[in-house]
Amino acid sequence: MSKKVLLSGIQPSGLPHIGNYFGMMKQLLADQDQYDVYVLIVDYHALKSIKTGREMSENIKAVVLDYLALGLDPNKVTFFKQSDISEHTELCWIFDNITTMPYLMRAHAFKDAEAKNKEIDVGTFNYPILMAADILLYSADIIPVGADQKQHVEIARDTAEKFNRIYGKTFKLPEALIVKDVAVVPGTDGRKMSKSYGNTIPLFAEYDEIKKAVMSIVTDSGEGIPKNVYAIHNLLRPASELLPIYESKAGKYKELKELLIGDLEKFIAPLREKRKEYEKDIPKALAILKAGGEKAKAVASAKMDEVREKVGVKVY
Ligand code: TRP
Repeated sequence: MSKKVLLSGIQPSGLPHIGNYFGMMKQLLADQDQYDVYVLIVDYHALKSIKTGREMSENIKAVVLDYLALGLDPNKVTFFKQSDISEHTELCWIFDNITTMPYLMRAHAFKDAEAKNKEIDVGTFNYPILMAADILLYSADIIPVGADQKQHVEIARDTAEKFNRIYGKTFKLPEALIVKDVAVVPGTDGRKMSKSYGNTIPLFAEYDEIKKAVMSIVTDSGEGIPKNVYAIHNLLRPASELLPIYESKAGKYKELKELLIGDLEKFIAPLREKRKEYEKDIPKALAILKAGGEKAKAVASAKMDEVREKVGVKVY
């Protein structure tokens, strides 16, 4: 039996932190053997928030280096970027013509964006339809997402069903696989670790950055276990190992932090070094992405050919 297709879209948003890693990224890398995996950098989606060309290109390059350094194997995974495959935007347009405005207006992401900014752009409104195209072009079975993206996968399903109903069976219905939000790891200030709060530990941090971040972790002044330090530490070591240490060193925050710095450095250093290796030859890393695009193109263009035939524009 052939493997199921798993597809994941990654935002080129720059500088991943350890919360990102222990959520989606680690899971995705573990899935490389079990599934036929597609990983695409969703640069056209990112246009909604990245408005300078320079930042866009830098972020694309950075995310390629990040994933290669983490061990994404381009022989197993079709690793590419969305903008290399014009079929994504083409299919999005076709879907736009079977999608109603009231339907898209029910999307949470749209409602949130609208609540904050009335001058919402069309790209943001149409975001879920481009995402549906990303998914459906590759006949993906499984879409690993955080809970916040579940509705988008449902929109992709609805869109597939609607197209199939109107034009005849063409698309496979995808399913969301909800990846538990391990990223509810506290940041250094105790709030959720998030770039927007500036409370992260970067995944490829230098030793000094690790040290500075850990030393700044907020602890209450009690005698017990510093819970923010512990929660971050618990990503690296199981409770069975960690609890006895924390219990025997209760109240000794500085010592516990030093222990965490040591463990973080042990975990991060090899990744950081690998990333530096890839960084020495960026054209080579980009050639990997480009080759992935060629593989993806073959699949996407075959599907698109079928779609053109179904909607009747294929007259020769
Ligand atoms: N919307 C996703 C996010 O913000 C990114 C994304 C775009 C995606 N296309 C996708 C995720 C296709 C999975 C499948 O994280």
